[in-house]
Amino acid sequence: MHLSRRLMFSLFCGVAAVSMAFAVFQVQAEMHVLRDEIQRQAIVLAESQQGATEQILATGSSRELQALVDQYRNRGHLAGMAVYDDGGNTLAITSGLASDLPAPPAAVSRAVQTGRGREDYFQSRGRRMHIFALPLSRDGRMMGAIAVFHDVAFIGAPVWRHALTGMVQTLLIVGVTLLIVHWSLGRPLRHMALWLRDLRTGAISGVSRPPKETIFRSLTSELTQLATSLHAARAAAEEEARLRDAGLSRWTAERLRIAVQGKLNGSRLFAVSNREPYEHVHRGNSIACSVPPSGLVTALEPVLRASDGTWVAQGTGDADRETADEFGRLRVPPEHPQYRLRRVWLSEEEEEGFYFGFANEGLWPLCHIAHTRPVFRTGDWEQYRSANRKFTAVLLDEMHGEKQPVVFAQDYHFALLPRMIKERRPDARIAIFWHIPWPNPEAFGICPWQRDLLDGMLGADLIGFHIQAHCNNFLETVDRALESRIDWEHFAVNRRDHLTTVRPFPISVAANGESRATPESSPEVRDLLHRELGGRPAFLGLGVDRVDYTKGIPERLRGIERLFELYPDYREKFTFIQIGAPSRTHIKRYQDLMAEVEQEVERINRKLRTGAWKPLVFVARHHSHAEVEAYYREADLCLVTSLHDGMNLVAKEYVAARHDERGMLILSRFTGASHELADALVVNPYDTDELAQTIHAALIMPAEEKRIRMQRMRAVVKEHNVYRWAGSLIGELAEIRLETGDLTQNGQRSREDAPVPAG
Ligand code: F6P
Repeated sequence: MHLSRRLMFSLFCGVAAVSMAFAVFQVQAEMHVLRDEIQRQAIVLAESQQGATEQILATGSSRELQALVDQYRNRGHLAGMAVYDDGGNTLAITSGLASDLPAPPAAVSRAVQTGRGREDYFQSRGRRMHIFALPLSRDGRMMGAIAVFHDVAFIGAPVWRHALTGMVQTLLIVGVTLLIVHWSLGRPLRHMALWLRDLRTGAISGVSRPPKETIFRSLTSELTQLATSLHAARAAAEEEARLRDAGLSRWTAERLRIAVQGKLNGSRLFAVSNREPYEHVHRGNSIACSVPPSGLVTALEPVLRASDGTWVAQGTGDADRETADEFGRLRVPPEHPQYRLRRVWLSEEEEEGFYFGFANEGLWPLCHIAHTRPVFRTGDWEQYRSANRKFTAVLLDEMHGEKQPVVFAQDYHFALLPRMIKERRPDARIAIFWHIPWPNPEAFGICPWQRDLLDGMLGADLIGFHIQAHCNNFLETVDRALESRIDWEHFAVNRRDHLTTVRPFPISVAANGESRATPESSPEVRDLLHRELGGRPAFLGLGVDRVDYTKGIPERLRGIERLFELYPDYREKFTFIQIGAPSRTHIKRYQDLMAEVEQEVERINRKLRTGAWKPLVFVARHHSHAEVEAYYREADLCLVTSLHDGMNLVAKEYVAARHDERGMLILSRFTGASHELADALVVNPYDTDELAQTIHAALIMPAEEKRIRMQRMRAVVKEHNVYRWAGSLIGELAEIRLETGDLTQNGQRSREDAPVPAG
């Protein structure tokens, strides 16, 4: 590194100024000390000889007087001594001193006149001298004075000598500083420059890490952020350009951000969900922040970032309170904050009734119809209502002062919230997306509070489901249960002069579309296979689910067992890995299911295993998205056998992960995903034989056919990705005309402006 001349010049001037100032101060201080010392010596000497001199003057001879003053001849800086009479005439003086002195020195006359010791400095033959004169008296009569002379030429060396010392000091300090700077900063800075160049150009020069010196830590962290954003922006721009070139109009995170900015037109977005996007938990002595595996964060983050919005969600982490302010607010994402997370605190009792009780033991089985009986308890319903009220209050607080806010509620936890918000903020645009299926009116009708739920949802301006069939079921349910007008042509409900549009928005995954070379198989998968089976079998099947009774896991296991009965040749060749994330384990039905899956795995393995091989491996723990991706890329087939599922994102994630266009998806016909992924092998999971035959069909399918099917499925997932989902939903919501123009006092629209009733 070459330090600039300017830096060297500044360094030199700075150090020189400091060192000169310091030298001047030091010289002054030293001179002061030396003068004091000479003065002290002179006084001591004069006083010690005062009495003897007075005695000699009274009774002695001039010879004695001369002998006394001659004792002090040539003693270092002491030049000599002299005795004067009261008229200033010299009575005795150290030999050789007389010629140097003025006669009489002024200090002598002043001492005689004042009767007190006096000092002075004077020049004598080019030398600087110090005199101290002490009056001599006898019986109150002034007789003269005794004077002590010092040569003080040594006090105060010439300025040039100090300047020279300062200069040498300056050069030494500057030299040493430059060496230190060069050594300790030059190398890391050179390293940083190379690292930055690599980040900027994407080139590889072997400098893959930033300098590790602590002094650069905050700089490197900021630069890493900058580089990541730059890469993301560049990738997005390249992708856009590529798509434009190919005449496609694919949605990307960037496109979603820009589109949402345009659509919201300055309005702020408020998302509300039960699960929070960032959860803080204690890990030993530190706090870790994790993102739940839900795809919702991928979809909603660009939207919230675009409007600097607010996400309201339940705070569930054990370190959530200490990482938020007194209102439960914090800016996220933690590494690059762009929107606000407002945490809502629920008591154990509230969570029990609202989340575990009404939402997951009532609505969840009610909507899925997977042969687990819904449980409706009045206490749970009351907690559900009160939790909806609590979230509403928090949202209203966050929306205070915001004009025409946009509210995007997520899922079956918040059926009552749209109406609660609309009543207080008629100017808000409200959408609710129902992530689970909506059953037929007869099935939904068993819920004792179906009318309250429907009325609550109809407070929204837009209701989204995954597929048209769920929209139809919803409209039929409303038709049967509530007084309202259904517009079947436009799929809308008019109730109490408020219009709610009902539309399908199939949710998806990010599927950014870049084609990566197939990576080496993941060490985690290899380790697992080695540990469990002693190596990779010829065929690997995979299932990835929350352990939930809607996912058809026991049905899947029985289908695999049947495969081995029908085709025993697959023994020692085919193994199925089931990744099962424990879920809602507080609920007995979920505990029973976990036990059932474990027993089934155990039973089938006991029956079929030979040597190191076994047909089933069950890994019951939560896996990160990256970990699951490694399994997706390894598996020859992925089994999704839900008994009923709104969409099922595992199916889409598997397809999105297969950049190599290999693998095969077996997909339950009872998932929303089967409406889009026509090239999957679609099955009825209740039909054990069909399931076994379909697995066999996937295993023997020619590679080319699998490739074509996978290619087509990938095209669908890329085109209908999660950015399109969020973009279409927000776009549709923004287009809706609100009835706020002529609101009456109670927040309802006036008659003239009321929508024309359908039909
Ligand atoms: O499928 C509906 C859903 O709410 C998803 O949005 C979510 O990922 C999943 O269920 C898990 O739910 P929970 O928050 O209860 O773990």
